[in-house]
Amino acid sequence: MSGIGGANPLRDAADRRLPRIAGPSGLVIFGVTGDLSRKKLMPAVYDLANRGLLPPGFSLIGFARREWAHEDFAQEVHDAVEEHARTPFREEVWQQLIQGMRFVQGTFDDDDAFEQLKSTIEDLDKVQGTGGNFAFYLSVPPKFFPKVVQQLKKHGLADQKEGSWRRAVIEKPFGHDLVSAKELNQVVHEVFPPNEVFRIDHYLGKETVQNILALRFANTLFEPIWNRSYVDHVQITMAEDIGIGGRAGYYDGIGAARDVIQNHLLQLLALTAMEEPASFDADALAAEKTKVLGAVKLPKDLAKNTVRAQYTAGWQGGAKAVGYLQEEGIDPRSKTDTYAAIKLEIDNRRWAGVPFYLRTGKRLGRRVTEIAVVFQRAPHSPFDSTATEELGHNALVIRVQPDEGVTMRFGSKVPGTSMEVRDVSMDFAYGESFTESSPEAYERLILDVLLGDSNLFPRVEEVELSWKILDPIEQFWDANGKPAQYTAGTWGPDEADEMLARDGRSWRRP
Ligand code: BG6
Repeated sequence: MSGIGGANPLRDAADRRLPRIAGPSGLVIFGVTGDLSRKKLMPAVYDLANRGLLPPGFSLIGFARREWAHEDFAQEVHDAVEEHARTPFREEVWQQLIQGMRFVQGTFDDDDAFEQLKSTIEDLDKVQGTGGNFAFYLSVPPKFFPKVVQQLKKHGLADQKEGSWRRAVIEKPFGHDLVSAKELNQVVHEVFPPNEVFRIDHYLGKETVQNILALRFANTLFEPIWNRSYVDHVQITMAEDIGIGGRAGYYDGIGAARDVIQNHLLQLLALTAMEEPASFDADALAAEKTKVLGAVKLPKDLAKNTVRAQYTAGWQGGAKAVGYLQEEGIDPRSKTDTYAAIKLEIDNRRWAGVPFYLRTGKRLGRRVTEIAVVFQRAPHSPFDSTATEELGHNALVIRVQPDEGVTMRFGSKVPGTSMEVRDVSMDFAYGESFTESSPEAYERLILDVLLGDSNLFPRVEEVELSWKILDPIEQFWDANGKPAQYTAGTWGPDEADEMLARDGRSWRRP
């Protein structure tokens, strides 16, 4: 089948080898006026079309309160694409995509609007050949999830007719804690069967994250030492230099741990620590991730092994950044964490006794996400003791972003010395080794939804286990005073450094 854009020189080699083109279908976005939709979802739809991966009659429906005509919506998509799409703008692709664009105006309580949505879908089935196959993307605050899915049910929009599908795509955060996540799951599953529910964790759509599995299981080099006998500890860092931008309403009360540790960082931990799955299909992958998340153990002393903090005013990138409590829309008494660091252990034979340190923060030194597997020191060294003291730990660093690749760190003899050993790095960089460019995570994930491929979507069990890990920490923080502080533009609070120093370790400065 040839999609929108037909034969497209932009289609990369991997796609040529494995053309995964969506069949007749459409996407409905709730919350289409939001940031995520403008920056990520609309551009991803266009990029997929531009790569020839969408069917010719693909349709995009926006649903929101805004009083827009179809043309206004199309103009919004156009602007979003111009500003944020990854691939160049091509008029012929746009002209084809626009044929299937519609806007439905209304609130989530508005029955007429949902009837309007229904007739829009029926109309598109006729004129665009979408075959009744629609995915509903809930890019809305979690408190609206139940309402929207109930409306979809009430108006027959979730009903799958013979030979067609209806799917729900749900943005994170999926709940606020274990109890609310369970309630949400129940509501969603009353309306959509589990295999038609796609919970988005966009980190799983990143090429570098998928590569963790290739690195571990397509090679012989790493797996034999990927365990407690050789690994000293693992550090998973997701540092951002941005503040909360215009997201005060979302962020305050949620904080760093709920925003990204509960989902992105625990998924990175699961992929790093899980056993090899029997195959790479969705069930086998979920089974292994679930096992490892189920084996995660919290340290007994949460005061010593967790840190939460807020940024205070500082200089970043040559500009003055205000402190979190001075950000517009933030309660000046807020205790919300903009930085969180936690130590976890995994209670199984492979990892017993190996700490996994997770940290994330806004307004840190620079934007970087990496997983560093730090190995134990050599048990014996034939070199003299001064040299041995200087020798660091070997490490394998998976650079998730922005400088995508893998670094191996090891000791090497310094030329011209008798036997001084110093740490050096060996690098693999995507940009140097591949000519293919990486699609945006949302391109991959939206395409997977349309194809019904759920490999890269966390299952309900994973989401619930992740809350189970985080809930006691959040409760401990709620009950125990105020967050620590760190200056914007630095690498976080002293308390986080002290936390590792107590274990005789230190954070990497990527
Ligand atoms: C989102 C968080 O899930 O991930 C944001 O809600 C964060 O707070 C974002 O900024 C980071 O995504 P990325 O892909 O830029 O690392």
